[in-house]
Amino acid sequence: MSAASGALGRLVIEHLRTRTEVVAAVRDPGRAPQGVQARRGDYDDPASLREAFDGATRLLLISSPELHTARRIGQHLNAVTAAKEAGVGAVAFTSFLGAGTGATGMTEAYHATEQAIIRSGLPYTFLRHPFYSDAFVPRIVEGEITSSTGGRGLNTAFRSDLAEAAANVLTGEGHLGRAYDFTGPLWSYPEVAEALGVPYREVPDAGPGPMSWINAQIRAGMLEQRTDDLERVLGRPAEAVVSRALRAVSEHSNCLDN
Ligand SMILES: NC(=O)c1ccc[n+]([C@@H]2O[C@H](COP(=O)([O-])OP(=O)(O)OC[C@H]3O[C@@H](n4cnc5c(N)ncnc54)[C@H](OP(=O)(O)O)[C@@H]3O)[C@@H](O)[C@H]2O)c1
Repeated sequence: MSAASGALGRLVIEHLRTRTEVVAAVRDPGRAPQGVQARRGDYDDPASLREAFDGATRLLLISSPELHTARRIGQHLNAVTAAKEAGVGAVAFTSFLGAGTGATGMTEAYHATEQAIIRSGLPYTFLRHPFYSDAFVPRIVEGEITSSTGGRGLNTAFRSDLAEAAANVLTGEGHLGRAYDFTGPLWSYPEVAEALGVPYREVPDAGPGPMSWINAQIRAGMLEQRTDDLERVLGRPAEAVVSRALRAVSEHSNCLDN
């Protein structure tokens, strides 16, 4: 598994360690998750990737956090080439929704990587992720919930569910040659406010930046695509954002009680 020291990688390892032998490929072995074998595997160092992937029957290629698209594509292609040279049995790649057709913009690097994996001839599974719910759970501030989402639906999913789904794909059968469009249960900020019993107020965007861009996408209904892929691979429903928000409120009020 590459990029195994990140938030997603650590969650996947928690699911895999009891099911199979795991090797964590990390750019800094000092940051490797405890309890599994670690090897150095830096996306900018092809030789390290070849050694890290040696002997792997399955590789989880976790996308790089690099923001520069060309550099990010170069890193992913280094990993695909290394996987091919190391004779990896199959690759699961954490892609992004829309990457099957989106050759430009936000999905450009994901699209280029999917295409490179297909060209490599390696057996593959694409795990197309939505935005992670973890960054979107509404919080009550001064007695209300606000957002700039126009009350539209969001198809986000929690890292924890996406990690379990990745572990199921890596250890299960019948996933090769497939592209999964993983989405969580659709939700909206006004719905969560109603469930929490607080008012909802639409506010203007805070200003230019990644969140404003995402909010514009949400207002245009671009996050309302929904599939059953995640719950089918999990074998259960994915966690709803409203459940996490309710739990956060209850834990917070318990803290206040103590
Ligand atoms: N769908 C979404 O909403 C969303 C949100 C955020 C990110 N993402 C994507 O999903 C990926 C996983 O998410 P995450 O939450 O686990 O991200 P994260 O916690 O930021 O972890 C990123 C991982 O990438 C590793 N990394 C960075 N540069 C590397 C390099 N040159 N070679 C090898 N590994 C390198 C980091 O290693 P170190 O520990 O050494 O830094 C870390 O393990 C991200 O990398 C990003 O591509 C998706």
